[in-house]
Amino acid sequence: MAQTSGVDMEKIVSLSKRRGFIFQSSEIYGGLGSCWDYGPLGVELKRNVKEAWWKAMVQERDDMVGLDASILMHPQTWVASGHVQQFADPLVECKSCHLRFRADDLKDSKDNKCPSCGGQLTDPRMFNLMFKTFMGPVEGEAAVVYLRPETAQGIFVNFENVLNSSRKKLPFGIAQTGKAFRNEITTGNFIFRSREFEQMEVEFFVKPGTDKDWFQYWFQERFNWYVKLGIDQEHLRLRQHGKDELAHYALDCYDIEYLFPMGWSELEGIANRGNFDLAQHAKYSRKDLSYFDEETQERITPYIIEPSAGVDRSVLAFLLDAYHEEVVEKEKRVVLRLHPALAPIKVAVLPLSRNEKLLPLAKEVYGEVRRAFVTQYDDSQSIGRRYRRQDEIGTPFCVTIDFQSLDDRQVTIRDRDSLKQIRVPLEVLKATLAAKLAGEPMEVLPPGGSQWLGFDS
Ligand code: GAP
Repeated sequence: MAQTSGVDMEKIVSLSKRRGFIFQSSEIYGGLGSCWDYGPLGVELKRNVKEAWWKAMVQERDDMVGLDASILMHPQTWVASGHVQQFADPLVECKSCHLRFRADDLKDSKDNKCPSCGGQLTDPRMFNLMFKTFMGPVEGEAAVVYLRPETAQGIFVNFENVLNSSRKKLPFGIAQTGKAFRNEITTGNFIFRSREFEQMEVEFFVKPGTDKDWFQYWFQERFNWYVKLGIDQEHLRLRQHGKDELAHYALDCYDIEYLFPMGWSELEGIANRGNFDLAQHAKYSRKDLSYFDEETQERITPYIIEPSAGVDRSVLAFLLDAYHEEVVEKEKRVVLRLHPALAPIKVAVLPLSRNEKLLPLAKEVYGEVRRAFVTQYDDSQSIGRRYRRQDEIGTPFCVTIDFQSLDDRQVTIRDRDSLKQIRVPLEVLKATLAAKLAGEPMEVLPPGGSQWLGFDS
């Protein structure tokens, strides 16, 4: 049976706060339930996740284009999409303590009692998960707009705009990342389920009849994306939805699940949405959203395959999978083995000490390296403690400047994962770091480089 990465959620929550990855929203006021703020390192990690996705899904493909649609959309969008009528969970409330639960979370409980205080529960009623607000100065029914609960609809309503302006032919996709909001009844497990979160969604338009093949293609492609970025394959699985689980628009759906500390849970959903969305928007908008198929000389309504990932859940899975504790020279070392593409800081420049003789060269190296990579300069505390700090935030490489560097203009590069160190001339430092960040083994030395066995590991 698969084992989790071994780390419990509390450790990740604590590291996230201590090192500035993720904070509770509005913490000084006691916090706002189920909303989270990304700190200085978290924002870099999150950007890197989105950039890795954008690169793989848009920039490296000929059959994909990007979009950035607004969060607020015409309210009819949500009538056509089915969200006004169907985007609801069954809610029960405790008559004593007034806590609310999703009825389907309690389906195994036989006595209809509150799991918190044992009080009597109300009958289930459907609760719509969309947040409402008002557009303009008058707060009436006519001014109601919704905060989008998925980014997908911004893509569907722009299908014709993109088709006409980009002259794409089927099959092609439109990709978008952005915020989504759901008034979830139950939240929790840190950033796993929150009320404000980010999605990375693709709507891939295909000819009807080719949809099953593309569906399969996409769930394999997306599974491999997580593996390429360092997630242990043993911690991922594909699970097909049962008929009773399918969303109102889906013909079929697979979840990519990650083995989170609380068990296997959804990381990303890949759905075959059929022609539901384009047909619905065509009907409600009375616009022609069909596609002219030059092969058959017919107008068709494309089918849509939708790989829909959560940015926050991906961040959480990458953090959990990267977290390792080990003993090095009888001391505990916490190391985040993040893929270099995701690591918030790529290189740390560390003078051996604060000795003023070292500073000019250390600053020179820092000035050079930071032009190429996100780099942190640190000259506080002992070199060993500074290495540990960088290990804990996942920095793949540390560059150390010592007294010998003043004579030979060579510096040490230390690898976070293997703790191997090489010594390289300054003129090849940037090229060597670029090669190592791209995965070149530490044993490969640049011209004039050598193995170095000196410092604290
Ligand atoms: N457009 C399809 C769609 O939105 P979904 O399965 O409801 O499908 C897609 O959501 C992804 O968005 C999920 O796999 C998850 O990663 C993320 N997600 C959904 N609800 C979330 C929440 N409340 N908090 C954090 N992430 C969430």
